[in-house]
Amino acid sequence: MTKTVLVSGGAGFIGSHVTVELTQAGYDVVIADNFSNCDETNYRGVCKILGKELPLVKMDFCDAAATDALFEKYHIDAVIHFAAFKAVGESVAEPLKYYQNNLGSFLNILEQARKRGCNVLFSSSATVYGEPEKSPVTEQTPRQPSTSPYGNTKQMCEDFLRDCVKAYPNVKGIALRYFNPIGAHPSALIGELPRGVPNNLVPFITQTAIGKRPVLRVFGNDYPTPDGTCLRDFIDIVDLAKAHVYAVRRMLDGKMEQGYEIFNVGTGRPLSVLELITAFEKVNGVKLNWEYTARREGDVIAIWADPALANKKLGWKATRTTEETLKAAWAWELHLKELGL
Ligand code: WQD
Repeated sequence: MTKTVLVSGGAGFIGSHVTVELTQAGYDVVIADNFSNCDETNYRGVCKILGKELPLVKMDFCDAAATDALFEKYHIDAVIHFAAFKAVGESVAEPLKYYQNNLGSFLNILEQARKRGCNVLFSSSATVYGEPEKSPVTEQTPRQPSTSPYGNTKQMCEDFLRDCVKAYPNVKGIALRYFNPIGAHPSALIGELPRGVPNNLVPFITQTAIGKRPVLRVFGNDYPTPDGTCLRDFIDIVDLAKAHVYAVRRMLDGKMEQGYEIFNVGTGRPLSVLELITAFEKVNGVKLNWEYTARREGDVIAIWADPALANKKLGWKATRTTEETLKAAWAWELHLKELGL
């Protein structure tokens, strides 16, 4: 029988790509989103790519009754939880907003998992490693005390899931720790659609290239790295989405070796901010207006993944090149222009 996966936050950047990959892998997907931080552009793109309408529930997972009703209506075999706020700076200014939303929504989902028996995949982040002593980081690399409420919520949600798995035998869980997801679907029908001024590098690059922003500011060129800019593990969004399919399969096929497992989702290749900018200009034949400015508070100097565990246990590997990813990011920005967005 076809298994059903609930994708909370399924209309967002990562959720929409995961929905496409899961559906193409043969799963039934139910999308639930409160549209607090996105519009329906990605949902419509998902339906266009798949050639069918997917069930879409407009709801907030902080609403315990609505969450219960959703799990009552659909038989959910696994839930992937993306519905959360994700702006690091905003979380420092408004910690309660982050704690109430990001923790409250996940607690309601865990309550349903406990009540009904369900597999839970949590979207965690490399932010839990803080500034690591060395890279690449493995899943055994100790977590560092978080520097933002956003990062705190990622650590706490990992711990909530670990503790629930330990206490409730009918709950299994996987946390995927994403490095820096970038790019867009090759169809250019779904992608990242930040509201207001983007915090993240690649949307800022594409918005500058298209003329929405006058200049891209590179935060710091005096870091102890080869070219003085920060090093990151930029992971293609479609590669990242596919990791979820492997993780869901591992849970639903009963292949987990422990009730709670953690996997890094990255390429294993560090790239500097400057290298990424240069690659973007080269592959897309566009000239970016950029300049150096002061370091951004709280930025990690260098971090990249050791993805060996995911490679081995999930059978997943990142395959797309930086060039393909940056072409897709640009095609998406051009598509948004066509849509007038
Ligand atoms: C990457 C690099 C910046 C913008 C954050 C969260 C993480 C995850 C992804 C998300 C840094 C530099 C950026 C700009 C720049 N969570 N930069 N000019 O900070 O690695 O990770 O987003 O939902 O948890 O912490 O990603 O894309 O913001 O920055 O120079 O305008 O690009 O300084 O070195 P980051 P990022």
